[in-house]
Amino acid sequence: MQGGGEYDRHSSVQQTTMECVASWLHEAAARVALPDEPMPIGIADFGCSEGRNSILAAGHVVTELRRRRAMQPICIVHADLPTNDFNQLFANLHDPNASNYFHDHGNARPHIFPSVVGGSFYGPLLLPGSVRFATSFLAVEWLDRLPDVRVPEFISYIRGSTAAQNAFAHQAAQDLMAFYKHRSVELAPGGQLLIIIPGRNDTRVCSDGLNELLNDACADLVESGRLDRDRFERFLFPVYFRSLEELLAPVLEAGSPIRKCYRVERAEAFEVPAPFNEELRRTGDRSAYAEAYTGFARAIAEPLFRAQLLGPEDDPSIIAMLFDRVRERLLEYPDRYVFHNIEVAALLTRT
Ligand SMILES: C[S@@+](CC[C@H](N)C(=O)[O-])C[C@H]1O[C@@H](n2cnc3c(N)ncnc32)[C@H](O)[C@@H]1O
Repeated sequence: MQGGGEYDRHSSVQQTTMECVASWLHEAAARVALPDEPMPIGIADFGCSEGRNSILAAGHVVTELRRRRAMQPICIVHADLPTNDFNQLFANLHDPNASNYFHDHGNARPHIFPSVVGGSFYGPLLLPGSVRFATSFLAVEWLDRLPDVRVPEFISYIRGSTAAQNAFAHQAAQDLMAFYKHRSVELAPGGQLLIIIPGRNDTRVCSDGLNELLNDACADLVESGRLDRDRFERFLFPVYFRSLEELLAPVLEAGSPIRKCYRVERAEAFEVPAPFNEELRRTGDRSAYAEAYTGFARAIAEPLFRAQLLGPEDDPSIIAMLFDRVRERLLEYPDRYVFHNIEVAALLTRT
């Protein structure tokens, strides 16, 4: 994700998505098995990025836990890749003008201990049995590694051959198994795991619209000779969109090594309205729509495009041109690239 606060500034889609399952967080926090006082209660969010949504989500959990245990120490871990902009997360957390789970406009809340961990959530990250409440929002769709397949005509496996689609599905299944397995070690019995990821339902795939938009903008730059065709044809987003069945398969399927580790409390696929679509419908303001949608796309895709579409000899400003094309296309064709935020979510209890 983009650093320097860019991700946070352009993540209202992600915030709306997290808020959609806020009631799940409260329900689970009211139920979760807690350690005896004064042992600390561990909370962890996996894939926290710059922290705006991660801090808000942890806030929902802390609010509910405080109704049950007014003074018990609570340790909150925000985890992400070592390349993540954790400085921005600390800036958010300590912002004296903010009120969050850690402080209220500079006045510390009692017995709250935040920290961060840098590492991949496809491996072990936290002490065994140390977590009572684990969350992950819009992160586990990112694959641990890109399958060795080519889809030269598009930037996502979605339009690839059956072999390419199967390779992505296989990698995604392995990754999800690893994610659940490592969390099952870190979670104490009775602990809760809420996972929500961009996915698919019977009719749509999340990122319908977004993929086409980015693909078309890249193709424009290839046509005008600014972007290398071979790099473009090799590029693939390392992202997979699961169905609800795929999200639950490791937990439910006979023969799965973690089948007895979790009980499914709740699982759903749903579409979350994207704020910029709603605003366009309300105001008809195309330019505000193009600006907001471009910012959202850029916060997610820019670092990957910069790393993979540009060679060492290329002018870095090509990436800015690419997102100018994204904005122009949205202004020209506001109905062509409608983003559909299809999400799949599961709330599990560690048995
Ligand atoms: C779209 S952002 C979501 C951020 C935040 N959860 C939210 O809802 O706004 C996805 C995050 O997942 C992180 N991520 C991707 N793969 C990861 C991995 N293997 N281990 C840890 N974090 C990962 C990315 O670095 C990024 O910060």
